[in-house]
Amino acid sequence: MANATDHLWMHFTRMASYSAGEVPTIVRGEGAYVWDAQGRRYLDGLAGLFVVNAGHGRTELAEAAAKQAGELAYFPLWSYAHPKAIELAEKVASLAPGDLNRVFFTTGGSEAVEAAWKLARAYFKRTGQPNKYKVVSRYIAYHGTSMGALSITGLPGIKSDFEPLVPGGIKVPNTNFYRAPEHGDDPEAFGRWAADEIGRAIEREGPDTVAAVFLEPVQNSGGCFPPPPGYFERVREICDAYDVLLVSDEVICSWGRLGEYFGAVRYGYQPDIITTAKGITSGYAPLGAMIASERLMEPFLTETGMFAHGVTFGGHPVSCAVALANLEVFAREDLIGHVRANEGAFRSTLEKLNDLPIVGDVRGDGYFYGIELVKDKATRETFDEAESERLLRGFLSSALFQAGLYCRADDRGDPVVQLAPPLIAEQEQFDEIEQILRAVLTEAWARL
Ligand SMILES: Cc1ncc(COP(=O)(O)O)c(C=O)c1O
Repeated sequence: MANATDHLWMHFTRMASYSAGEVPTIVRGEGAYVWDAQGRRYLDGLAGLFVVNAGHGRTELAEAAAKQAGELAYFPLWSYAHPKAIELAEKVASLAPGDLNRVFFTTGGSEAVEAAWKLARAYFKRTGQPNKYKVVSRYIAYHGTSMGALSITGLPGIKSDFEPLVPGGIKVPNTNFYRAPEHGDDPEAFGRWAADEIGRAIEREGPDTVAAVFLEPVQNSGGCFPPPPGYFERVREICDAYDVLLVSDEVICSWGRLGEYFGAVRYGYQPDIITTAKGITSGYAPLGAMIASERLMEPFLTETGMFAHGVTFGGHPVSCAVALANLEVFAREDLIGHVRANEGAFRSTLEKLNDLPIVGDVRGDGYFYGIELVKDKATRETFDEAESERLLRGFLSSALFQAGLYCRADDRGDPVVQLAPPLIAEQEQFDEIEQILRAVLTEAWARL
């Protein structure tokens, strides 16, 4: 489509890079594959954007949307309810761990994160600790782009244009064990250290000023950092000791991505709030949610109490109907069990790439992996800015795409290739991913 850039302002896109070339335009999807306007097929190695968990081309989800739109296209959740929101809230509460029973719908992930921070602040205001407003999160972590969520995000490169941001965003080390600044030979000691850094940050800021800690179960940005053993157990202790809420940002890590409905369940910790979006509908309609514990709703249950927050399209009837149909697919096809049964094969297939000189580290869990690229395997030396520009932005993304694999080459931290295919993927797709990566990474190495 020649005029794609005339009016369409793409997100996080160097628009000028398309001034001469054509914008890749995706027109159709089926299973783990998508097709472009020229009819070329690509393996969707990123489930769109960590979204299409149930896979493309599910007509029953499209039909659920059409049926709901025909019956009741829209009504707000502002003082009124509609059946699909009620039913979905009950379903989500039944799947969420512990007493995370209160479901506040949004349209996406940033709004869920925003709602969680606002709830944390309002909760403490209403329970006699009005100065608790700050949030702790990790370096390089991505938590969204609205001003609050951006303050929680730990990526300087996407923040600087918009400063000053919302005050109170405090950053602590992430759990990149491959680049551990301390205890690089002992994951447990490293996990303890990284968790204790949260405690030290709270102490530094003053515990009576800190409201919440926002963490992903597996940190996406930087290239899939799973939690070291004992990490979340220790974080939970610290949060309890300082009366700070633990928010598990599962915008990516819920709905089967890690082989459970929620990442917190996979790693055995109990958050006070879960934020989610993306895979809840597998992308057939937009939806997000903040799922809060019973305790956090209590101050708002007085006669005149209310959480003074909302968005027009939060819990849209069509999106809720789609989410329910999506979760029916999950249950009927046991997509969670499928991920559990196949994640070992996915891992070992990707680990074959360890024989390439450019592959430094293969890490992740479930159907969620990052492959860190290095200039020197022995010293773990990474690329300088010019090499990153040439290799990642100049070559890798487009070469992978041309070879038939849509995934992400990301250098917001150290350079990584990220993989998160639809949860229906199996050995055939794992092999295809490995083969394309092998060929393209070998070529990238030769070009260095
Ligand atoms: C962990 C996390 N939080 C929040 C967001 C923001 O979600 P959205 O893009 O739906 O606003 C994302 C998006 O990728 C995310 O990965």
